Amino acid sequence: MNSLVKDAKKAGERVGLISDTITIHGGKPLQGRIRVRGAKNLATKAMVAALLGSSTSTLRDVPNISDVKVVRDLLEVHGVIVTETAPGVLEMDPRNVLQAHFAEIDAHAGSSRIPILFCGPLLHKLGEAFIPDLGGCRIGNRPINFHLDALRAFGAVVDKSYEGIHLTAPDGLKGANIEFPYPSVGATEQVLLTAVLAKGTTELKNAAIEPEIMDLIAILQKMGAIISVEPNRVILIEGVEELGGYLHTALFDRNEAASWASAALATRGDIFVEGAHQIELMTFLNVFRKAGGAFDIEDDGIRFYHPGTPLKPVNVETDVHPGFMTDWQQPLIVALTQAEGRSVVHETVYENRLGFTKALVEMGADIVVHEHGLDGDYRRVPRRDLEQAAVIEGPTELRAADVHVPDLRGGFSYLIAALAAEGTSTVSNMGIISRGYEHIIDKLEQLGADFTFEAQDR
Ligand code: EPU
Repeated sequence: MNSLVKDAKKAGERVGLISDTITIHGGKPLQGRIRVRGAKNLATKAMVAALLGSSTSTLRDVPNISDVKVVRDLLEVHGVIVTETAPGVLEMDPRNVLQAHFAEIDAHAGSSRIPILFCGPLLHKLGEAFIPDLGGCRIGNRPINFHLDALRAFGAVVDKSYEGIHLTAPDGLKGANIEFPYPSVGATEQVLLTAVLAKGTTELKNAAIEPEIMDLIAILQKMGAIISVEPNRVILIEGVEELGGYLHTALFDRNEAASWASAALATRGDIFVEGAHQIELMTFLNVFRKAGGAFDIEDDGIRFYHPGTPLKPVNVETDVHPGFMTDWQQPLIVALTQAEGRSVVHETVYENRLGFTKALVEMGADIVVHEHGLDGDYRRVPRRDLEQAAVIEGPTELRAADVHVPDLRGGFSYLIAALAAEGTSTVSNMGIISRGYEHIIDKLEQLGADFTFEAQDR
């Protein structure tokens, strides 16, 4: 281990300062074993669910990432006692939930989008909620209209001010009939977390059904909720008077697993991802195989590797579950720069999730982004007005470069590109990666990456 890494580790919660920069000597396959823990996109929501209980909840396999810290801080400013009883095990006691001050909530909300999910639980517990301006990755507009419309349908009064959004529920919250224009993950979670304690039944049409949502429903059922998932994206929630706590092990992070899989492919490497399960990754595994990647599914994880034969181009369209996740396309695109031929990736979930490819082009990739997508044989069904397409011609040799992390998944892609490229690259703004990738520095080390990491305390 180099001394810079040691210094960085001493600092404790490393990789969290936006000035953190990693210097990578690339061109070496990533090889070894790493473990993925609970999903960022489940653990954070499960923590919010704990607010709804009348007794303590315990969540296991919680990743040590900054989005979890944001939610923990927000729970604590609202009076929830959060204790880490063992590494990755959080106990949350919500028996004394209290009103927090605007400024305090604002200070702790950070750049996360999770605070909006506090609305329903706080309205139930306190009759009022405040949501500051939301952050999250800059991958599109990311409006919250579905959330606010749903909360209004439950009977909440929404007041927008320059500081954020203030919500009250003068007559309590009542079950509602809601239909989303699009199956939004966050808005579905909003409805679940609000409907479980609302008076009467809620019917949600065009709901998201991602595995993380199913895991959240499982948690709510453990707490005493009555939720049925019906055919055709309909979810029925019968409100109950009270919920208890839960004991749950978070679903593994399939986005992190897919990211390491793409890293193995792009660097001609071999990575065993402990904790990865087949079912939640089925769509990814099909594309990985079509692109020429190999995998072995074991009971305790999945081995992803480059088989030594040329990679093949693929056509991919991101979509809601069970489609190919938008979060998977960015790391995969780096691997596709090494495939023999033309790949096309259509992004249909966010309107600005291909901007990260600019830096890959500077590194030698041949990628052209079509702002309004492409017609013709590349498409199955046009999904949305906002779609864009990336056309990737390969194989191209990647050159070392100095790159700056733009967003979580784009940032991981830059890491992969730098690891695949011959020569020395720097990747700055590593702190963003710590929002969703646990112990990234340790994991790179475990996989034999050649790098130095400089933590610049400010
Ligand atoms: N949308 C609206 N109005 C809304 C909400 C969503 O128009 O009120 C639109 C969005 O603009 C977007 C689409 O609906 O075009 C899908 O957004 P969704 O609400 O499903 O996304 P999200 O809940 O904000 C979560 C994950 C994302 C992941 C998406 C899609 C979390 C914290 N984030 O976002 O994860 O890409 O679902 O699966 O769960 C990541 O982990 O890097 C990440 C961005």
